[in-house]
Amino acid sequence: LIREATAGDVDDLALLRWQSHSERDELDEGDFEAYRVGFARWWSTQQGRCRAVVATDDERIVAMGFLALVNRVPVPGALDRHHADIQSMYVLPAYRGAGVGSQIVGALVGLACESGCTRVEVHSGRRAVPFYEHAGFEHFPQLLNLDLKR
Ligand SMILES: CC(C)(COP(=O)(O)OP(=O)(O)OC[C@H]1O[C@@H](n2cnc3c(N)ncnc32)[C@H](O)[C@@H]1OP(=O)(O)O)[C@@H](O)C(=O)NCCC(=O)NCCS
Repeated sequence: LIREATAGDVDDLALLRWQSHSERDELDEGDFEAYRVGFARWWSTQQGRCRAVVATDDERIVAMGFLALVNRVPVPGALDRHHADIQSMYVLPAYRGAGVGSQIVGALVGLACESGCTRVEVHSGRRAVPFYEHAGFEHFPQLLNLDLKR
């Protein structure tokens, strides 16, 4: 089942985000509770800014993706302009390769259309680039990035 996340899903979203991160970095399980609390505090401020879609099996959430709305400066004739950013897509390893991620991206794009977005962006991890290409995303030469962490 694919559906939009509700306030009641917040702990599961935090857990999946933690699991997603632990695939890349070693995390100390003792830090999870503080992360969960911080995540819940952040999520409570996101109404109208960030939405999430989840996939569930019979028991639990097995995949998720977020859609952050980005406001754009008004132009004459169009005061309310925004685009969307897909973030933190994650499918539990056992559920990958079965179309779940694609269904979540489809639902997030649906939410973006519903919110009046003109386009959707994603800053993909290296390995997921073919996945987004498969979903119709295109490389865009006019999108430039300055990495401030270097
Ligand atoms: C990337 C990810 C979200 C894809 O979800 P998924 O449910 O496995 O993807 P789907 O089954 O819907 O795949 C759709 C298509 O993309 C392709 N695809 C998926 N992941 C791919 C990958 N890593 N490399 C190449 N192609 C990929 C599939 O082969 C499939 O094509 P097909 O229908 O022709 O077989 C999932 O593998 C994941 O959570 N990975 C780890 C976290 C991550 O990389 N997140 C993205 C950061 S923005």
